Amino acid sequence: QVEIALRGAYIDFKDNPFRNDPSGCLVHESDAIIWIRDGKVLQVGPASDLLPQLPEGIPVTHYRDSVILPGFIDSHVHYPQTPIIGAYGEQLLEWLNNYTFVAEQAFADKDVAREVARFYLRENLRNGVTSATVYCTVFPQSVDALFEEAQPYGMRLMAGKIMMDRNAPAALTDTAQSGYDQSKQLIERWHGKDRFEYVITPRFAPTSTPEQLEAAGALAREYPDTLIQSHISENKNEIAWVNQLFPQHKGYADVYRHFGLLRERAIYGHGIHLTEEELHLFSETGAAIAHCPTSNLFLGSGLFNIRTALDAKRPVHVGLATDLGAGTSFSLLQTLNEAYKVAQLNGVPLSATHAFYQATRGTAEALGLQDRIGRIAAGMEADFAVLDLQSTPLIRFRMKYADSIEEALFINMTLGDDRAIRATWVNGACVYDREQDAQQEVRA
Ligand code: GUN
Ligand code: FE
Repeated sequence: QVEIALRGAYIDFKDNPFRNDPSGCLVHESDAIIWIRDGKVLQVGPASDLLPQLPEGIPVTHYRDSVILPGFIDSHVHYPQTPIIGAYGEQLLEWLNNYTFVAEQAFADKDVAREVARFYLRENLRNGVTSATVYCTVFPQSVDALFEEAQPYGMRLMAGKIMMDRNAPAALTDTAQSGYDQSKQLIERWHGKDRFEYVITPRFAPTSTPEQLEAAGALAREYPDTLIQSHISENKNEIAWVNQLFPQHKGYADVYRHFGLLRERAIYGHGIHLTEEELHLFSETGAAIAHCPTSNLFLGSGLFNIRTALDAKRPVHVGLATDLGAGTSFSLLQTLNEAYKVAQLNGVPLSATHAFYQATRGTAEALGLQDRIGRIAAGMEADFAVLDLQSTPLIRFRMKYADSIEEALFINMTLGDDRAIRATWVNGACVYDREQDAQQEVRA
C-alpha cells in the first residue's frame, strides 16, 4: 500500500453548472488534505479535520499560493501532428492535404513515432493534462509507440489507429479488411491494459469507404466497451463533400448512425455546423462532441455553440479538446481562454465555473469516465494539475485586484499557460514538477 498526501487549496464540482445553479456547483476549500492510497483518493477534506487522522510518517506535499485541480482531460487530439502545429494559411481540406497527410507518412517509422510521442506526452504533463483521447496514424506501430511511451507515467490514455481507405495518399491508406484486422489486434494488445483504452478511429466519413465504416461498426459491436472517435461537421466544404459521397443518407450524422458509430463513448470532433435534427440524434444515442476552440479559430472553421449543444431539452455530451496540430496550444487554460471568446461571439459568456467544469468533470462525462477521473473526491483516481495562481508578473499584479476563487480562476484561464502549471500528478504520483524541470534545463 502506497499512501501519500497533498495539502493546499483545491476545487471540485458537485454538479453540472450548465444544468444547476452554478453557485452551488463549485466546491472550494482553501486548506485541504487530499489523502491518496494506491493511486486513488481515499479521503479529501479540510486540513483541520484530516491532518490529525493521517498515518504517522506519510509524506505530505504542501502547495502554497496554488489551487489543486482535477487533472485536465483533452478529449480530441492528434499526437502525430505535433510537428505541424502552426502551419500557415489553410482551411480544413487544404490543410489536410498540404500538411497533415505529408507529416503523418513519417510515422511508418516507429522511431519517429516514439520521438514525437515522447515529446507529446511530456508536453501534456507540463500543461497539467493527465488524460487524453488520441488519434495516432494509419500505422499500427504509431499506436504501440504512444502507449509504450505512456506506460512509465501511468496515464489514463485512450488512443487508436486511424482507419482511412480512400481520398488520401496511397502511403497513408489501409483497406476495409486490413483496417479492421489491425484495429482488432491493437484492441487485443492494449484495451484494458494499465489505464489504457482503445478508440476505434475512422478518420472521418470522406476518407472511409462505406465498406470500411461498416467494418468499424462491426468492431464497435464486437467490443462494446471501447471508445469510438471521428470528425463531424467541422467545415462547410467538408459537409458538402460528405453529402456528395453519401447521397443516400440524410446528412453527415446519419452516415455515422447508419454504420452503428453513434453511441455512448463515441466522440466526434467539432460538430460546429450540426443541424438541430442531428443534435437530437447525438442526444438520443449518447454520442458526444469534442469542442476544439483553438482549432476552430485557427482553421477558420466556425464558432461552436456549446450552450446550444448542452441544451437541457435534448442534451448532448460535450468534451473540451485541443485538436492539436490544427489546435494551437497544449494548454487547457489557453483552450478555455479561446472557448470563452467563442462563447462571447455566440452571445453567452462562459464563467470560470462553467469553463473549469467543462475541462474536467464535463469532459470525463462525455467520455464515460465520470466514475474514474475529472473530480477530486473519495474513490476517484488521483490525477491532478497544481495551478500556480501567481505564475507571471502580469498575473501576480492582476491577482491583487481579485477577491474570489472564481475571479482567480478566470484570470488564470485568460492569462495563464504552461507556466501556470506548477506540478502534475498522475495515478497518485508526481510526474512533473516545474521547479525541478527548470533546474534540469539549467544543468543540461
Ligand atoms: N478532419 C479529418 N481529419 C482531421 C484532422 O486531422 N484534423 C482536423 N482538425 N479535422 C480533421
Ligand atoms: Fe481532429
